[in-house]
Amino acid sequence: MYTKKKIALKYIQYLLRASNGKGHGVHPPFLYDFIRHVLNSKENPVCFKEIENERKSLMANDQVITIEDFGAGSRIFTGLERKISGIARTSLKPAKYSRLLYHILAYYKPRTSIELGTSLGITASYLAKANPNGKLITMEGSAAIASIAKNTFSKLSIENIEVAEGNFDQELPRVLKKNPVIDFAFIDGNHSKEPTIRYFNMLLPHLSSDSILVFDDIHWSEEMEAAWEAIRASKEVRLTIDLFFVGIAFFKKELISKADYSVRY
Ligand SMILES: C[S@@+](CC[C@H](N)C(=O)[O-])C[C@H]1O[C@@H](n2cnc3c(N)ncnc32)[C@H](O)[C@@H]1O
Repeated sequence: MYTKKKIALKYIQYLLRASNGKGHGVHPPFLYDFIRHVLNSKENPVCFKEIENERKSLMANDQVITIEDFGAGSRIFTGLERKISGIARTSLKPAKYSRLLYHILAYYKPRTSIELGTSLGITASYLAKANPNGKLITMEGSAAIASIAKNTFSKLSIENIEVAEGNFDQELPRVLKKNPVIDFAFIDGNHSKEPTIRYFNMLLPHLSSDSILVFDDIHWSEEMEAAWEAIRASKEVRLTIDLFFVGIAFFKKELISKADYSVRY
């Protein structure tokens, strides 16, 4: 992982290269649409407040649980003790980005979505609320953490979600076998190069021209930047949007030439 100072420097570089998304005509219509309906969405449904109240109560919960820690790489440390409040403070996507994912799902309404890395279920709750008629599978390796996520879903009356418990290495092939087409995936676990590229390669045969993949923390470390570079270079990826804290890949076959954008968010 980069130092805080290095991340701050990289963030400044991103702000300097990123477009502000304004100006029709500079972007292909597809990107213009994405900026208008997703990045600039003003929708603020009541569930946003309800989910954030759940986040607050998890952040105030000092109960200690024993987890399997999958770390940034593929090594698994079992029997680690962590406070729920600590996990809620450090492992979850901030509201701004969970809401971005909400707007993506609310606008594109994917039929089948997956999340790699449920944690306490906060971002998964946004995904479920955004697209009540879609199928959502969220994947988590730590049984103790998954059980808290299930409690979050039940408190928010979320039923349109399936929690796939187990290591991604075993669970992802099983989920893909049962769900041949994945329309949306948020890849937010195991933040290192080799597993990120491996999950991307596993997903590739299951994507359609309309599929959307969101990768978390693409500038978090040298490894994640290398993974994002490899994903961007893949011939199947037609357009990418770098929002610094997440990277989004589109596979639209009608986009004849490949393009990579950085957009301020
Ligand atoms: C960053 S957290 C996910 C946060 C969540 N997406 C959110 O924003 O609310 C990543 C989660 O992925 C899980 N994880 C990491 N590597 C894994 C693996 N190889 N198999 C299963 N779960 C894994 C961790 O236990 C952790 O709970």
